[in-house]
Amino acid sequence: MVKYVQTGKNTDSNAESSNVKKNYNLPWIEKYRPQTFEDIVGNEDTIHRLSIFSKKGNVPNIIVAGPPGVGKTTTILCLAKILLGPSFKDAVLELNASNDRGIDIVRNKVKMFAQQKVTLPPGRHKIIILDEVDSMTDGAQQALRRTMEIYSNTTRFALACNYSEKVIEPIQSRCAVLRYSKLSDAQVLARIIQICQKENVNYTEDGLEAIVFTAQGDMRQALNNLQSTHNGFEIVNSQNVFKVCDEPHPMLIKDMLKSCSNGDIRKAYKVIEHLWNLGYAAEDIIKNIFKVTKTMDMEESLKLAFIKEIGITHLRIADGLCSLIQMSGLLSRLCIQAKMQSVD
Ligand SMILES: Nc1ncnc2c1ncn2[C@@H]1O[C@H](COP(=O)(O)OP(=O)(O)OP(=O)(O)O)[C@@H](O)[C@H]1O
Ligand SMILES: [Mg+2]
Repeated sequence: MVKYVQTGKNTDSNAESSNVKKNYNLPWIEKYRPQTFEDIVGNEDTIHRLSIFSKKGNVPNIIVAGPPGVGKTTTILCLAKILLGPSFKDAVLELNASNDRGIDIVRNKVKMFAQQKVTLPPGRHKIIILDEVDSMTDGAQQALRRTMEIYSNTTRFALACNYSEKVIEPIQSRCAVLRYSKLSDAQVLARIIQICQKENVNYTEDGLEAIVFTAQGDMRQALNNLQSTHNGFEIVNSQNVFKVCDEPHPMLIKDMLKSCSNGDIRKAYKVIEHLWNLGYAAEDIIKNIFKVTKTMDMEESLKLAFIKEIGITHLRIADGLCSLIQMSGLLSRLCIQAKMQSVD
């Protein structure tokens, strides 16, 4: 069924705070979904460009592409609210991956909405939001091509996706493609500190660092992890965060990597064996080893050699070789790399 979005009529600068007051029981990701461009963190250049478009009114068709949880859907909703204000309800059609978006829906509902007459201020257009467009079949995307052109004097399309390569070329050529990148650790940290203050969260510095570490630039993940830890424990510290996220503690991994740099395979093996006995999957362990290595303070050339070996093991794990022997093999190769570099 086609869904007409009716939420969020606030466009004033106090929108976020009034939104906060109304929604006590919402998950924080929704409670703190930015309502204006100023509240969206990161990707400043793109957002600045969009805010200029939104003032002038004549926005092109756009595709926002990027990793999950960085504000793509939020940006498009903000844009539509700014452009359409009170007409948002009648002039926006939002379809996401939870709607049926086969070729028939494109031929009927999308086309019908594009044909509909809605009275808007001059220079404004109806907006069709196709979220998660990369999950639409090629056939359905093909069916959009002509519709996008024929109704271009009354309707604009705003598309969001994780993988722009899954959007067919002809659609990409009809749109301005805006690419979002992951948020930086500092941007995620600043936002979660703000929210901790608003929600009176009891936190420690290492707790917030742990949230930032587990989120890896995904703001949605950061807020979810923060809220889960806050609800489950009295205090947000690193131990509690890693319990909630059920990830191997990076301090353990850091110790293990340090032992490898010192060529001490026995000590390193003890850590991996411990993690293995705790029941972590090889995939989780290897991902964490990579995350920790990336930010570890070590010689650049050794870091690169480590990452190369980690990549090879990740490939094997992805191929299905998820055994402790593979992980031990990685440690031994890391030790060899460290020894070779110390000889050079
Ligand atoms: N740049 C950001 N600034 C502030 N909050 C953000 C930002 N990005 C994400 N969030 C938070 O995360 C939630 C989810 O963001 P959003 O729905 O925009 O993600 P998305 O990029 O569309 O992800 P997906 O690819 O999974 O659809 C928002 O409600 C908001 O609380
Ligand atoms: Mg989205």
